[in-house]
Amino acid sequence: MATQFLKSLLLLSTLTLTISAEYTGFVGTLDPKSIGIKHKKTLSHFRFYWHEVFTGENPTAVRIIPSLLKYNTTTFFGTLGVYDNALTVGPEVYSKVVGKAEGLFASTSQTQVDILQIFNFALTQGKYNGSTITFAGRMSQSEKVRELPIVGGSGVFKFATGYMETSSLSFDPQTRDNTFQFDVYIYY
Ligand SMILES: *[C@@H]1O[C@H](CO)[C@@H](O)[C@H](O)[C@H]1NC(C)=O
Ligand SMILES: *[C@@H]1O[C@H](CO)[C@@H](O)[C@H](O)[C@H]1NC(C)=O
Repeated sequence: MATQFLKSLLLLSTLTLTISAEYTGFVGTLDPKSIGIKHKKTLSHFRFYWHEVFTGENPTAVRIIPSLLKYNTTTFFGTLGVYDNALTVGPEVYSKVVGKAEGLFASTSQTQVDILQIFNFALTQGKYNGSTITFAGRMSQSEKVRELPIVGGSGVFKFATGYMETSSLSFDPQTRDNTFQFDVYIYY
């Protein structure tokens, strides 16, 4: 009886030790399932198109700060803007809308047209409704295909990693209105 008691006491203290090793009061180890994260990640390829409009009655993108005159204005250095562009499944402007691209852009090169882009794809369809993918990177006009990293996500895209490739399907150098294709390769 006494040894039984001693044994269970020993077991208890080992158990307490294991728990305290994992949980120190401000950090603990979790089973991913306990916060709805599946162990095995999925790799998906999404294809979207955006339609960015600076002109007309309903522009989707605006320049907040114009390029600075004291610098070479052909590179638009210093321009800062914001956009809320429709994301569609097809390249046509009337194609089905599946989300929005909400973001900031800034011209950050004095020698060529390089754009720093920070934006979210906020999806609105089916199980992706309400989930976002966040990107931050460089779109250089000197590159036909531009690559941007995924820096994270929310909703079904929690813990997301990956990248996207993007290129322009149409671009008006006068108005800068454009349609871009996005191929997103995402692990989540
Ligand atoms: C301004 O930038 C353009 C390229 O965008 C370049 O061809 C030109 O030489 C630059 N001008 C000056 C004064 O640096
Ligand atoms: C997406 O979610 C919003 C907010 O919960 C809801 O109002 C909307 O109807 C949903 N859209 C689709 C297409 O399921």
